[in-house]
Amino acid sequence: MRHAASVFLARGMCFGSMAAILQGFIESSSPSNGLPIHAHVIKLGRRPGTNVSIKLLILHLRCGSVIQARKVFDEMPQPTLSAFNYLISGYFKAGIFEESLNLARNLSFSGQKLDGFTISMILKLSATMGTLSIAKQAHTQILKSETGSDDVVFSALIDSYVKNETIDYARSVFYALPKRSLVCSTALIVGYMKQRLFKDAEETFSNLVERDVVVYNAMMEGYSRISETASRSFQIYKVMRLDGFIPTVSTAVSVIGACSLLSALQFGQQFHCEIIKTTIYSHVKAGSALIDMYCKCGRLEDARRIFDHMPEKNVFSWTSMIDGYGKNGYSYDALGLFYKMKTFNEVKPNCTTILSVLSACGHAGFVSEGQKIFESMDKDYGLKPRMEHYACMVDLLGRAGHLLEAYDFIKRVPQKPNSDAWTALLGASRVHGDVAMADIAAKELFMLCRNERPGAYIALSNTFAAAGRWDGVCRVRELMKDRGVSAKSGHSWIGSEEILHGFHCGWSIN
Ligand SMILES: *[C@@H]1O[C@H](CO)[C@@H](O)[C@H](O)[C@H]1NC(C)=O
Ligand SMILES: *[C@@H]1O[C@H](CO)[C@@H](O)[C@H](O)[C@H]1NC(C)=O
Ligand SMILES: *[C@@H]1O[C@H](CO)[C@@H](O)[C@H](O)[C@H]1NC(C)=O
Ligand SMILES: *[C@@H]1O[C@H](CO)[C@@H](O)[C@H](O)[C@H]1NC(C)=O
Repeated sequence: MRHAASVFLARGMCFGSMAAILQGFIESSSPSNGLPIHAHVIKLGRRPGTNVSIKLLILHLRCGSVIQARKVFDEMPQPTLSAFNYLISGYFKAGIFEESLNLARNLSFSGQKLDGFTISMILKLSATMGTLSIAKQAHTQILKSETGSDDVVFSALIDSYVKNETIDYARSVFYALPKRSLVCSTALIVGYMKQRLFKDAEETFSNLVERDVVVYNAMMEGYSRISETASRSFQIYKVMRLDGFIPTVSTAVSVIGACSLLSALQFGQQFHCEIIKTTIYSHVKAGSALIDMYCKCGRLEDARRIFDHMPEKNVFSWTSMIDGYGKNGYSYDALGLFYKMKTFNEVKPNCTTILSVLSACGHAGFVSEGQKIFESMDKDYGLKPRMEHYACMVDLLGRAGHLLEAYDFIKRVPQKPNSDAWTALLGASRVHGDVAMADIAAKELFMLCRNERPGAYIALSNTFAAAGRWDGVCRVRELMKDRGVSAKSGHSWIGSEEILHGFHCGWSIN
């Protein structure tokens, strides 16, 4: 196409044909070959007409340069609505939301009538930036103007209220609609599901006269998030199939996710068989979901087979597999796969991957490997350790009996260590019967959270008991009484299951 461009330029092009030629480049797979035309226009020294300017603007956007597009826009004596719309959307796609919004503001101040596209862009901006006021302004605009209020606009409006978690506004928009379309119903269902208003979602869903795969997916996704409702996504799935719809990747992620949450291996296998001959199966999201499901059900070999045959792997796939090994006690395999990930170097581990592998090292007592991986976080991957990583390292050192080292480690944590780190040290001290260290850790914990963590009192008390230090046991008991800490609430203690596990057992005071 570059040749084509120079031929046209050599022949001397008039502006009339130029718009058409630019359009050709815009639609081609290599739009940048059309850029010499812009240089040519500049050389001509005449201001191009609106039609050509808009095409130039789109061409620059297609080439990924919102800055050049802006220059074209700024040179237009009277930018048209479509010029505004293209640039607003260009800024949005480039993630420059502020500028996108500024432009939309200027457009509405200019007195031009906004169309449906502009309003839905503004609503998307509102949803992305999490600012309710913009959505409300757009809402007012929609109510005032007769034009531009189609399904797209209304569903965008509902969606931006949903994203802001102001479901009442979303609901009132929906119920004021002249016609309750499928896309608007779907947007509202998504909102209800997000707020776990299952009854409302079900009611809206059952009132639908027509359905599509998107609305079925919205229902399944909503149900699949928590174990209380997860099995309902299977029912919806069956209805959807009976209704003649073909599952999509999003269907697969929800259904497999529900299986994973419920450890519903049979249903999962059945679904696996259903999609194995479809294109969904080779999708990285579906594959990762299957890996996760098989790991949760303890079927590591099945998970690994899927992992090995995935045409494309991302950080989710790698992390799911590594985490699956770790959680099922195959620390050696978790570590091996992590090193393989490093060797392949196609996908970089993220914070979650590192946490999984560190926790696997902790289980197996791979102290020096864990330490090396911890150090490599920042050095090799530029990942700043978070408090979870520090707590995990304390756990790793502590479990292996390096209590002093673990204590030193906590003291070197740049931020103020949170209760998880001290909890890990306390847990390890208890396991190794180190009363002095348990005392230190417990004191820190008591200072951080006096009442919220009865488990800390319990763990300390158990450590004393195990060492035969009944004076200590009584002291803790009195402390609890003084502070009004109830041993019963020990089970509602939030934190890493893993680290806290030991504390729930063997509580013998009272
Ligand atoms: C600009 O484009 C519109 C439609 O796309 C067309 O009707 C109009 O004639 C064009 N104007 C010029 C000056 O070419
Ligand atoms: C909006 O208009 C003001 C005043 O005309 C101008 O200074 C500003 O650059 C414009 N901003 C955008 C994003 O168009
Ligand atoms: C909703 O919008 C308000 C006001 O703009 C904002 O303070 C709040 O954080 C938003 N909520 C969410 C969940 O985005
Ligand atoms: C890292 O990847 C996991 C998926 O394995 C994902 O859940 C998590 O959000 C990612 N974390 C970051 C910080 O990107």
